[in-house]
Amino acid sequence: MTKTNTIAMLEGDCIGPELMKEADKVLRALEARGSVAFNLQYAPFGGKAYFDHGHSFPEQTKAICDKADAILKGPIGLSYAESQNIPVEEQPERGALLPLRKRYNTYANFRPVYLPPELAHFSPLKANVVEGGIDIMIIRELVGGLYFGKKEKGETAEGKRYVRETLEYDEDQIRRIAIVAFEQARKRAKVLHNIHKSNVLMSSVLWNSVVEEVHKDYGDVELKHVIVDAAATALVLNPRQFNVMVMENMFGDILSDLGGGLLGSLGLMPSACVGTEKAYYEPSHGSAPDIAGKGIANPYSMIGSVALMLDMSFGMADEAREIMDAMRKVFAEGYTTPDLKPREGEQKLISTTEFGDKVVAALNS
Ligand code: NAD
Ligand code: IPM
Ligand code: MN
Repeated sequence: MTKTNTIAMLEGDCIGPELMKEADKVLRALEARGSVAFNLQYAPFGGKAYFDHGHSFPEQTKAICDKADAILKGPIGLSYAESQNIPVEEQPERGALLPLRKRYNTYANFRPVYLPPELAHFSPLKANVVEGGIDIMIIRELVGGLYFGKKEKGETAEGKRYVRETLEYDEDQIRRIAIVAFEQARKRAKVLHNIHKSNVLMSSVLWNSVVEEVHKDYGDVELKHVIVDAAATALVLNPRQFNVMVMENMFGDILSDLGGGLLGSLGLMPSACVGTEKAYYEPSHGSAPDIAGKGIANPYSMIGSVALMLDMSFGMADEAREIMDAMRKVFAEGYTTPDLKPREGEQKLISTTEFGDKVVAALNS
């Protein structure tokens, strides 16, 4: 008998539902082949959930996520103007996304920055810089640092408004993400770039010393330390020098979007957020209010997140590879969504739905 995997499906906001429709299509296409079954449980989450249910992470959604084998999540977030209609604490980033990460302690965020050689033309970098493609795994710590440190705001004795946010890490939090990163590096090119700011931040001083301690168990992996600002430049000038990079939460947020820039679009950035007991999967990008409802969002990050889920949560490495190969095939045939730079002389623009259909056709061929 085929095992049924239960997936909590959180559509999110703006382009979220458009992308989830394509993810659903791909899961159903795999199911139609007969060897796997999915129980897809849709649940409200994000800004729309706030307006419909009074909370951006409603209790019913928590219950569905608690019971699910994995969680698939579309991007959340409203336009700046719409966000102003929601109390600050309930705005979907603070009210839903961070609580989701905290609830399942998804400390390890895998953000592949990947462009195979035949798609190097998508990158805005010069051809000689990206020749051979880009293949970086950014490992971002996801439940610590400034995002989750103590916060305080108020007024000083002189009546000046102030705010205080705290960057906190303890050694166990650093050790566990360092282990994840060294394990990745061991499986890949055996080089780990540790990104830090120890010339200024005491948090980075502790971070680096724990990373050095963990390194003692990974003598086969070369460890290189790079300061975060210089890393941003190095990523643009020569991305191919990097293979696995590890960093704290905020640095990872910023450098992973820079990664999307290297590839040519945030639409090429799937991700996995892995905790001790549960994992959830989401594109690295946001809800793209600027293109919502137009049917032009690139579903690669979303469908790529499905592939990561199949591989990392369900042990379906073959199906995951098939999905990634199917998407490569669509691009290799010259089709692109409008966010991507087409090959010279070729302009075969397709919609979100057409992209999903072509992936399904490739899976069935
Ligand atoms: P964004 O990532 O939504 O968009 C940045 C740019 O990239 C826009 O021009 C957008 O059109 C483009 N883009 C993003 N994804 C795309 C796709 N799949 N296909 C084609 N183009 C794509 O960033 P933003 O505009 O700064 O943020 C919008 C909202 O998303 C905010 O509310 C933010 O907090 C939220 N957000 C959510 C997540 C998440 O749910 N994990 C991640 C990032 C941002
Ligand atoms: C991301 C997003 C989130 C983050 C926001 C929406 C809270 O930018 O997943 O990269 O900063 O982590
Ligand atoms: Mn981000």
